[in-house]
Amino acid sequence: MTAAKFTPRVFSGIKPSGGLTLGNYLGAIKRWVDMQGDAFETIYCAVDLHAITVWQDPAELRNSTREIAAALIASGIDTERSILFNQSQVPAHAELSWIFNCVARVGWMNRMTQFKDKAGKNTEKVSLGLYAYPALMAADILLYHATHVPVGEDQKQHVELTRDIAAKFNNDFKTEFFPLTTPVIEGPATRVMNLRDGSKKMSKSGQSDMERINMTDDADTIAKKFRKARTDPEPLPETLDGLKGRPEARNLVDIYAGLSGKTSEQVITEFAGAGWGRFKPALADLAVDKLAPISTEMSRLMADPAEIDRIMGRGAERAEEIAQPILKKTYDIVGLLRSR
Ligand code: TYM
Repeated sequence: MTAAKFTPRVFSGIKPSGGLTLGNYLGAIKRWVDMQGDAFETIYCAVDLHAITVWQDPAELRNSTREIAAALIASGIDTERSILFNQSQVPAHAELSWIFNCVARVGWMNRMTQFKDKAGKNTEKVSLGLYAYPALMAADILLYHATHVPVGEDQKQHVELTRDIAAKFNNDFKTEFFPLTTPVIEGPATRVMNLRDGSKKMSKSGQSDMERINMTDDADTIAKKFRKARTDPEPLPETLDGLKGRPEARNLVDIYAGLSGKTSEQVITEFAGAGWGRFKPALADLAVDKLAPISTEMSRLMADPAEIDRIMGRGAERAEEIAQPILKKTYDIVGLLRSR
């Protein structure tokens, strides 16, 4: 089955669990902005139900949820063209996820690398929600019959599981109700790495703040973090091949490419032979150029939480209009009696 009979529709989400990083910006947000247009309906979500799979302080959770809305709008998400909302305001996400808990197999969940990473040796003590998380993610996507999901590389396995869940549901109930969603993992910066260790992903939960660029960092902090970013003593090579085995150098080139809208090949051609004394300041200037206006606009938007809440409420209403008929039809297919 192909997704051809489904309306081209994009869904993607970000967890409100702490601040947003340059990884979130380049791997997701910037690409979400670019996908707005005539080709797709676009739906973007602050996935607060995912955030609470690990402990969140209630006041901070609300604040981080609003901050995601502010970051998306400041980065160029147009809330008329796109639907922007927070997940918990559309209860159908949780309802569909229960159905998918009954479709997905425990063996599938046991293969999820992100669960293994997050649980570590603690598998007995983490929440049941953290284990079931990928079924909720499948529900987020399939509740809208989304055909395309733009994500960073780290979410690929979860989108593939979403396809497995859709295929098993369709097969079990002899239907073609759910699409087999395509993960869209494109561009030079789908896996932005930690600035101090090029073998680890840049993440909001890393130990030291020097490992990541936060979307709200000021110009001096950004410059300092890039200046202190780990590299090797070699200058930049003439071709990308020359960056093999140099993960930290490759990461900075990819970040430059992601921020500038160029390919990594173009960046390496432009800076062939340059030392870090030239490349790092150029990268810092570019990052400040791109991020400073976003962070200023985020602060302005965050000063009016009521307006953010209004936008998210309206987005949730629009999302629900798409979600409800799909949820109801799912209940009918499964054989759940509906008499009101
Ligand atoms: P989350 O909140 O961890 O990350 C949000 C998005 O940012 C991307 N990302 C990165 N991309 C490149 N380099 C990095 N270092 C980096 N760090 C994060 C992620 O790949 C993601 O696209 N489970 C998801 C949220 C989610 C979702 C969904 C996504 C819930 N339901 C449905 C898509 C569709 C998550 O925890 O993302």
